[in-house]
Amino acid sequence: MRMFENYSLETLNTFGFKVSARYFVEAESVEDIREAIAFAARENVPVVPLGGGSNLVLSGNQEALFVHVNLRGKEVVSRDGETVCVKAGAGENWHEFVRWTLAEQAFGFENLSLIPGNVGAAPIQNIGAYGVEIKDHFQSLEALDIQTGELKSFSLDECQFGYRDSVFKNAARDHFIITSVTFSLDAELSPRLDYGRLRQEVEQRSQGSQSEAFVISEAVCDIRMEKLPDPMVLGNAGSFFKNPVVDESVLSKLQRDFPDIVAYPFEGRWKLAAGWLIDRAGLKGFRQGAAGTYNKQALVLVNHGGAGPDDVLGLAKHIQSVVFDRFGVELEMEPRVY
Ligand code: FAD
Ligand code: EPU
Repeated sequence: MRMFENYSLETLNTFGFKVSARYFVEAESVEDIREAIAFAARENVPVVPLGGGSNLVLSGNQEALFVHVNLRGKEVVSRDGETVCVKAGAGENWHEFVRWTLAEQAFGFENLSLIPGNVGAAPIQNIGAYGVEIKDHFQSLEALDIQTGELKSFSLDECQFGYRDSVFKNAARDHFIITSVTFSLDAELSPRLDYGRLRQEVEQRSQGSQSEAFVISEAVCDIRMEKLPDPMVLGNAGSFFKNPVVDESVLSKLQRDFPDIVAYPFEGRWKLAAGWLIDRAGLKGFRQGAAGTYNKQALVLVNHGGAGPDDVLGLAKHIQSVVFDRFGVELEMEPRVY
């Protein structure tokens, strides 16, 4: 395993910030990770696991050991009439993994097509899109304890998944490096097409020789490509804020002033569309220096070229304050800041 010093992370974060890691390793195996964490302990620097870098903001000097988790491998573990159990290494690309599951006749993740990043990061915020979250098909994961170097298995309950949330953002934050994830997928396709214009998009397409699951996957890809910027073209980390969850009383008050506010029922409360709030506050396509909000999706903050983390975080603060003044609602950041 080769240890790099002052290693550029520019291509390893989708904002494209020009930031260097004090130490960097490419980990291909559990043994590599163990060696890396022993090194970090000796050097007395924190360990930061890194996947595709699509949900973080790297700010300032990174006096840490960045471990690019590159453990590979995908396998069908078992299959019966109802479920197909699949396991993937943390370093597998998420979208390629989804497409592989469909080819293996293992269904459930078609709506999660084209989410950037790797399998190992998917449980961190319980990734979700188009009405599906990974928790819906999660079985277990294996993770290395950064303190002890021991492998531990986490069950569905132990992961404490919520909306863009898990134990790894709370009690277990910074304690584990996920090495593999096992999912329990469906042997039969049950399309979930109720989100937005997905059903319409799917119905418009002729199936041809493709299976229905691939048609759904491609419809999802097309919708996403239409409204989300490609990080290779315009740096971004997807939604920059979570959709705020409020009580019925808060929503009712807001509806009096803003009858067209977008809200969805969520666990006995209401989830507001943060993109709508930012848009309605007049900040869609807004620019502050080289940082801005995307002109087709106000919830996505973008690097127009040459922006640094301070520009993006400064813009985020401005948005939070404008939205709070206008609607009395607080926006919580989704990506993690290092
Ligand atoms: P990274 O950005 O590398 O890491 C994210 C966090 O996870 C960091 O805290 C990191 O330390 C930690 N981490 C990474 N790997 C490991 C590991 N193996 N073990 C322990 N910790 C680890 N998210 C959604 O939920 N739904 C969407 O629809 C969606 N759309 C997006 C669209 C775009 C254009 C972009 C840029 C992002 C989008 N995201 C979305 C956010 C992002 O894709 C997900 O959060 C993804 O899971 C991040 O994966 P990553 O490998 O890039 O993680
Ligand atoms: N909207 C506006 N103006 C905007 C943006 C959105 O009015 O500028 C409105 C839309 O018209 C729609 C509503 O807000 O009525 C919701 O918009 P959209 O369907 O684009 O979804 P979102 O709530 O903005 C969430 C996730 C995305 C995920 C999509 C699809 C969060 C924080 N974001 O976005 O996840 O892909 O739903 O399921 O929950 C991510 O987490 O990085 C991410 C991209």
